[in-house]
Amino acid sequence: GGAGAGQAQGANPGFARGRRLRSTPALRRLTAQIRVAPADLVLPVFVKEGIDAPVPIGSMPGVVQHTQDSLRKAAHEAAEAGVGGLMLFGIPSGKDPVGSQADAADGVVNVALQHLRADLGDELVLMADLCLCEYTDHGHCGVVTPARGGLRGQGGEFVVDNDPTLDRYAAVAIAQARAGAHLVAPSGMMDGQVAAIRAGLDGAAFTEVPILAYAAKYASGFYGPFREAAEGAPQFGDRSTYQMDPPNADEALREVAQDLAEGADAVMVKPALPYLDIVARVAEAVQVPVSAYQVSGEYAMVEAAAANGWVDRERAILETLVAIRRAGAGQVLTYWAVEAARLLTR
Ligand code: PBG
Ligand code: ZN
Repeated sequence: GGAGAGQAQGANPGFARGRRLRSTPALRRLTAQIRVAPADLVLPVFVKEGIDAPVPIGSMPGVVQHTQDSLRKAAHEAAEAGVGGLMLFGIPSGKDPVGSQADAADGVVNVALQHLRADLGDELVLMADLCLCEYTDHGHCGVVTPARGGLRGQGGEFVVDNDPTLDRYAAVAIAQARAGAHLVAPSGMMDGQVAAIRAGLDGAAFTEVPILAYAAKYASGFYGPFREAAEGAPQFGDRSTYQMDPPNADEALREVAQDLAEGADAVMVKPALPYLDIVARVAEAVQVPVSAYQVSGEYAMVEAAAANGWVDRERAILETLVAIRRAGAGQVLTYWAVEAARLLTR
């Protein structure tokens, strides 16, 4: 008598026991849906002309403006840790209205690229951020022109002039490719920049150099610490007339589609954590690699909270990286790249 086969008490309590697969670290590791690998991570680095020792960045504890020598050492360490690539930013000692040092053969970033390519060959991907804001005296991402008519978008007498900027970007791309960049990454959010850069590179026989487009880049308050690091803060107005407006999501898909149509090989969403919905939608929509840039303010928030003892630093760092990968990004640009690579393989 009693209960028949399969009717044992408790066999079917009417709910799923999700906890079964969480009970040991090994079970959790085995069943983790996504992983972060060192090779997914890209380390942004700053190299500054005219300094003889690295300069710490106050708002980004642990990040410095490098000398050429300290950058070479940091690049070796990144390669050693298995990091996937570096994104280079340069701070020249002289700035002018058109950012001449960005495409000067002896410009700070181009010299750095030559050294790193000679040192490391193809061991990691050397990416060059392609923009003018660190090189222009006015701090905008393009060349500026006196405002006419109702064009007072930057809040002053000047506006950023899209089309003349495209020629400058093409020249910078060629200089960076010539110096040894494996890839160029335009971040200025000018319309038509990918097409102009592709045409410039192809015309100079750099047909094999890919373009990673900062396709959906928002006008963000989270870039604050970067402006100290790269010394590229706009001297008037802000970047709201060329970077994307935070409320807009559909527009990100249009920017991405446009950059791909112009010849981008991979696309980026930036910032990362406050825009994970955009990361997810872009990743869903395209069949090219999608990067997300965990920006300076995201880094600074966690560092500041950790310094106060308010969050467990390593745990928070790894959780942010997992979140960005889980949203759909294949690659993550992060100032924690080397440390995270070590944590992930310890
Ligand atoms: C400039 C540029 C910025 C960042 C990367 N490239 C700042 C800006 O657009 O004002 C931000 C990176 C960061 O905050 O870590 N083209
Ligand atoms: Zn810029």
